[in-house]
Amino acid sequence: MDVAASEETVSDYLLAHSTAQDDVLARLAEETRTRFPEAAGMQITADEGALLTMLTRLTGARSAVEVGTFTGYSSICIARGLADGGRLLACDVSGEWTEVAQRYWAEADVADRIDLRLAPAAETLAALPAEPSIDLAFVDADKESYPTYYEELVSRLRPGGLVLLDNVLLGGRVLDDGEGGERVVAMRAVNDRVAADDRVDAVMLPLRDGVTVARRR
Ligand SMILES: C[S@@+](CC[C@H](N)C(=O)[O-])C[C@H]1O[C@@H](n2cnc3c(N)ncnc32)[C@H](O)[C@@H]1O
Repeated sequence: MDVAASEETVSDYLLAHSTAQDDVLARLAEETRTRFPEAAGMQITADEGALLTMLTRLTGARSAVEVGTFTGYSSICIARGLADGGRLLACDVSGEWTEVAQRYWAEADVADRIDLRLAPAAETLAALPAEPSIDLAFVDADKESYPTYYEELVSRLRPGGLVLLDNVLLGGRVLDDGEGGERVVAMRAVNDRVAADDRVDAVMLPLRDGVTVARRR
């Protein structure tokens, strides 16, 4: 069997058997594809969104952080899972992309739970209170900075809190010894760090481009 075709078939099957996206998310995905065709591939898929909502609910999260908001798909999925009174700090550097996000946050009726911070996320995270206060963090921004984001977030996680890292496989390039670019080196470093970090229990899920779930002990 053709391996690539088989992987695509499995991905489609997983998508078809996970909670479907609702109309707001479907329209957001469509507008993102139409307005930003070159960048639209950065958006998470509906099955990953369902996972975010589920993990946010399962942890009873009241304080969440997202690094990499783009047009708002993942932030809606996290915000929908928050416990009553919960808040999501959404970090990005693009006013153009997050303008779309803000419109869809309003449509999804979650705008009042989300604080957008337009600044390099490393600065935003470093300025957060040092004590553990975060229940769930999702990292999906510049890959070179993942080691920094992980360290800033894991030290601020409450016991039982989760840090989720997206794209940890980088299309399989983390496994290829011939790959030595900055993004790949950084991703290998954070993957090794998580696996060896005795502050967390972790599992790397082969969902889409790989999602690590690390839970603070
Ligand atoms: C892969 S996209 C995020 C996709 C988003 N999670 C979604 O579901 O649609 C990456 C985002 O990270 C943002 N970004 C890149 N470098 C950043 C930085 N240094 N600080 C904060 N955000 C950054 C980009 O502007 C972009 O919107």
